[in-house]
Amino acid sequence: MTATMAMRGVSVGEAHAKVIVVGEHAAVFGYPVLAAPLPALSARTEVRQADGPIGLVSPFYTGPLRRAPAVFDGIKALLEAARARLALPHRDMILKLSSNIPIGRGLGSSAALAASLVRALYRSCGESPDPFTLLDLIDIAETFAHGSPSGVDAAAVVAGGMISYRKGLAATPVRTSRPLHFVVADSGIPSATRQAVAEVRRRLARAAADTRLRLGEIGRLAEVAAAAAKEGDARRLGETMNGAQRELDALGVSHPVLDHLLLAAGRAGALGAKLTGGGQGGSVLCLAEDLQAAERIALALRSQGAKATWLAGTREEAAL
Ligand code: MEV
Repeated sequence: MTATMAMRGVSVGEAHAKVIVVGEHAAVFGYPVLAAPLPALSARTEVRQADGPIGLVSPFYTGPLRRAPAVFDGIKALLEAARARLALPHRDMILKLSSNIPIGRGLGSSAALAASLVRALYRSCGESPDPFTLLDLIDIAETFAHGSPSGVDAAAVVAGGMISYRKGLAATPVRTSRPLHFVVADSGIPSATRQAVAEVRRRLARAAADTRLRLGEIGRLAEVAAAAAKEGDARRLGETMNGAQRELDALGVSHPVLDHLLLAAGRAGALGAKLTGGGQGGSVLCLAEDLQAAERIALALRSQGAKATWLAGTREEAAL
């Protein structure tokens, strides 16, 4: 294919945010993890044909891509790999990146942006990437952002519903037999997944037996959580979330502000509540009995200092 000829005027790609329901950190070591989409937030890339060197338009930087600051290194590497696969020239396009996913809040902002870029680039050539290529390319950008990602963020931002995931394997859809109602709250504290993952690795070196036990327990809880979600057993799912939070706290990836929000969620009637994503800041995820309860919990979290809240639900027939 001569992709230069196939390239279209303006092409758009999008991807939504994600939440880890149970299994973060253990996922890095190959344990199962349960994740869900957060469609209230998304990233978008517009690829426009324009003569000249590749340009970037974004809230952080606008100008030639080659002069973009280091935060765009992952995007640059991804673009190079995608360009090579699509046989696109190294010029004549402008990439316009936008996203309402807060950065550094454990909600998959970097993976969603990468996914939207891949989709837009392929669309600009009249193609759509096969799932393996899509994940492979997102992983290039994610390696810059997180060091050694498990791949769960990439899998979750392109999935249409809840997924069960294990490093190196294809995600499997988790269809819920009853709708589930989640509340996500931004603590306002920046979270650096790379540092949180490094903290767990340090613990593993320092206290190998204890850390291994805790990671294994998180993996076990993720499996129970997936089964509970399938059965629509919200109470059991909530218990697994609380259990995972205890382990994550012991692994050193919680934060006093998160602990405060989790307490508030419990008081407001959450069936389960935990940090979501890398932790040490970022966001919390709460499970509610129904929509009204979710709205009540969101209100309680905002009154206790959460910077923003979003609702996420699964449909009964949720499919990947
Ligand atoms: C980040 O959303 C989840 C972590 O487990 C890292 C990873 O799995 O790559 C903390």
